[in-house]
Amino acid sequence: MMDAIAELRKRYLAQVVGAPDPDALETVRLAALGKKGEVSLKMRELGRMTPEERQIAGPALNALKAEIDTALRARRAALDDAALDARLRAEWLDVTLPPRPRPRGTIHPVSQVMDELTAIFADMGFAVAEGPQVESDWYNFDALNIAPEHPARQEHDTFFMHRAPGDNRPPHVLRTHTSPVQIRAMQDRGAPLRVIAPGRVYRMDMDQTHAPMFHQVEGLAIDRNVTMAQLKWTLEEFCRAFFELDAVELRFRASHFPFTEPSAEVDIRCAWVDGQLKLGEGDSWMEILGSGMVHPHVLRSGGIDPEQWQGFAFGLGIDRIAMLKYGIPDLRAFFDSDLRWLRHYGFAALDLPDLPSGLSR
Ligand code: DAH
Repeated sequence: MMDAIAELRKRYLAQVVGAPDPDALETVRLAALGKKGEVSLKMRELGRMTPEERQIAGPALNALKAEIDTALRARRAALDDAALDARLRAEWLDVTLPPRPRPRGTIHPVSQVMDELTAIFADMGFAVAEGPQVESDWYNFDALNIAPEHPARQEHDTFFMHRAPGDNRPPHVLRTHTSPVQIRAMQDRGAPLRVIAPGRVYRMDMDQTHAPMFHQVEGLAIDRNVTMAQLKWTLEEFCRAFFELDAVELRFRASHFPFTEPSAEVDIRCAWVDGQLKLGEGDSWMEILGSGMVHPHVLRSGGIDPEQWQGFAFGLGIDRIAMLKYGIPDLRAFFDSDLRWLRHYGFAALDLPDLPSGLSR
């Protein structure tokens, strides 16, 4: 009997270890420990033994059963592990992307600056408004308190659109400033109101510091108790954020615009050091914008009651502040579409400026 047990042990342990897959292992289990398995049949023989024989064979068979059972479990675990490994290898997915080629195109400094100032003013609660570039002379002039005989009409060097001969209506113009968007925003949205309006404007002017098309951003805030102090705070806050410089210093100089009363032009403190412009230091001042409290006539043109509401407004040259911030020397190069210039001064196409990550990074 003990020889038979030793033989069973040797054979089945070898078969367990050699079983190549779970099905083969199950076959081995049934052959050894199943109801009609060899070990089970041997157990049945115990009944026919003498008590002395049984005392030896009983524990030996139980030990054999336990040993084969343990070996079966170990083999099953090993096969399961191997199966999982194989599955993981088979189902592996490459979620990495190949490096993308850097986009060839760049964002023009004017677009970059528009995105930057939109982010800054959005943070102060200003929405973006738009208006047409071909504008009626009412929106461009009359509604802004610029009467037909007002010298500003000549000063603006306006481009007039063609009218058919005999058509005596006043001609449309290429807007000479973004200020007409003030009127449109008031009409469309009513008060209270906080908008900026960046966009293209046109004047018949062309030299080193002027182009016939350039960019402005208009700002307009209307509420029940708007003050000049709020205008000043807003512009200072804007300049600090835009130039990414705490030390910016602004100077408000009394001025005149038909659409604001009182009006102020705003200069920024700067210095020329070795041909390089430095902001926030030095004894020079550079004009960067016009501003003031919205004239009652202008509010009325926009359908807003000046007895109930006041507003401040400002207009800022985008090209000018782009040159200041990014050290670009010549305005005319902005519009030459020279690829070398665009690659040099342009911005990465996928980096939209936002305040938390730093505007110009
Ligand atoms: N529209 C003026 C210009 O083009 C700029 C300006 C001045 C806009 C004062 C304003 C303002 O809104 O309040 O020269």
